[in-house]
Amino acid sequence: MRTILPALFLTASALLGTTLPAAAQEAGDAARGQKLADTCMGCHGIPGYRNAYPSYAVPKLAGQHPEYLNIALQGYKARTRKHETMYAQAATLSDQDMRDLAAFLAGSAALKTGAAVDGPGKEKAAACVACHGEGGRSQMPNWPVLAGQTADYLEHALHQYKDGERKDPIMGAQVAALSDADIRALASYFAAQPGLQTAVYKKK
Ligand code: HEC
Ligand code: HEC
Repeated sequence: MRTILPALFLTASALLGTTLPAAAQEAGDAARGQKLADTCMGCHGIPGYRNAYPSYAVPKLAGQHPEYLNIALQGYKARTRKHETMYAQAATLSDQDMRDLAAFLAGSAALKTGAAVDGPGKEKAAACVACHGEGGRSQMPNWPVLAGQTADYLEHALHQYKDGERKDPIMGAQVAALSDADIRALASYFAAQPGLQTAVYKKK
């Protein structure tokens, strides 16, 4: 494990480095992002709000890495990540808008802290924590926090990588050998960890 981790790390950063322009890594202006976030909050600011079809909870964004949220928005705009509503949202956003929205949404509430919770998916999750961090609390800006994310969104995302609907060279390889039962156990394990929260407006 110890010897392959740095290699994995380098491959992952090299791959991500080629998909994201350097400008996208700059920090955004959260105050400006809050002004742009009205429509976003109509879904992402409502606890338990669900995507209509297929039915799964919209992802929690608060406590997430802004860099990852920015990558996700760029992906919807470029259609490398397919979702009609999020494409419609992202299509008209500039690079600056995305950075600012990411900064606001990610910072609108803090990542919940607390000890990792045991669960049936824990053994399988050992392969994931190398990148996504202990209990899914990733320390790397390009690697999403999974802790506390809604279980059915995580499950949906893992199936999308497996079906090739959502293209990512790293995650595609990670999920290839997982069964439906593995995916469900992993999703519920990470969802049960203290972590991400629903975005909230900050008082001025
Ligand atoms: C109509 C509801 C709706 C609105 C409005 C909306 N979103 Fe989303 N958003 C979703 C859904 C559903 C997903 C999950 C899509 C998928 O499966 O890829 C999502 C995914 C995302 C993600 C990816 C999160 C992750 O963990 O990968 C980001 C970032 C995001 N939205 C930001 C925004 C921003 C910024 C706005 C406003 C400009 C916005 N959304 C408006 C429903 C919405
Ligand atoms: C080598 C590093 C690495 C490993 C190991 C890894 N991941 Fe990932 N994971 C990533 C990266 C990078 C992304 C972002 C990809 C993208 O932009 O779509 C990601 C994205 C995800 C997402 C989407 C999150 C979101 O908010 O949409 C889920 C869910 C996920 N990983 C779960 C897992 C699980 C479960 C495992 C173990 C079976 C795992 N990952 C192993 C690097 C890794």
